[in-house]
Amino acid sequence: MTVYELQQEILRLKKEKDVCVLAHSYQTRDIVEIADFTGDSFQLSVKAKSAPNSTVVMCGVRFMAETVKLLSPYKRVLLANPVAGCPMAEQMDKELISGIKEKYPDYTVVAYINTTTDLKTVCDVCVTSSSAVKIVRALPNENILFIPDCNLGAYVQKQVPEKNIKLLHGGCPIHARITLKDVNAAKALHPKAKLLVHPECIAEVVENADFVGSTSAIMEYAGASEDTEFIIGTELAIAQHLSYMYPDKKFYPLSKELICPNMKATSLVDVYRAIKGTGGEEITLSEDTMTKARVCIDRMLELG
Ligand code: 13P
Ligand code: SF4
Repeated sequence: MTVYELQQEILRLKKEKDVCVLAHSYQTRDIVEIADFTGDSFQLSVKAKSAPNSTVVMCGVRFMAETVKLLSPYKRVLLANPVAGCPMAEQMDKELISGIKEKYPDYTVVAYINTTTDLKTVCDVCVTSSSAVKIVRALPNENILFIPDCNLGAYVQKQVPEKNIKLLHGGCPIHARITLKDVNAAKALHPKAKLLVHPECIAEVVENADFVGSTSAIMEYAGASEDTEFIIGTELAIAQHLSYMYPDKKFYPLSKELICPNMKATSLVDVYRAIKGTGGEEITLSEDTMTKARVCIDRMLELG
């Protein structure tokens, strides 16, 4: 089968089986083309709540599929490829954070959505990269424990100086490996290009950017800008999608190291198998875990 033929078969099966396909913006072009919706983590959670279909197939990583299940508990939710996990989401567990909460009861625990559902059960509010600044600013408490991404947390602290933000040492292994040396090299190669980066990058990289935002915010900025050349400081997929969307503009990856193997684990064939019923993994969470974890997701949607 060609890619096109497989895409046509997926489109037919989606209708037949009442399936909605959600794809994170880091997914490959062939998947994005057959998805009902593509976006950043925040937009995907909003869509998860409103999708009318009985089954949702998530093309992304495990915590994203779990978020869909939390928001649509009566739907069948499938993670297209069960091996796709986010290493940052596994960095901190419930026991660690519960212990810290006992010691510092006057802190509000803000969890980046890239966390396990189990950990979310002991957190106060979730944020995504596109909603973190707005939500932290809106919280009534001055003392914030921000987990697990210390780079995103440090970025939020700069934007919201009136809060006292404590950080733990976690983060995205893909974005955090980009250095100022990479920035200088890319700028030397493309002196006219604007630098757009994800806030999961280290402070030195973020400070040198012309724009800092979530995956979707980067795409929106590049589309609306009068500029025609951009260095993209996030997963390689974003520069690729942008090139298709705006073929008359030029998009250069900040580093060729910016590949998330987990986001790339899902193939078009995985999507086909998940819809057909011969692949993927159905997400199941206990009633108790869902009730507790949903509190901080609902609060995110309310404030974000
Ligand atoms: P966004 O919230 O920008 O979609 O980012 C998710 C993610 O995993 C970035 O690495
Ligand atoms: Fe997780 Fe980083 Fe991959 Fe995003 S890019 S899914 S934060 S490892």
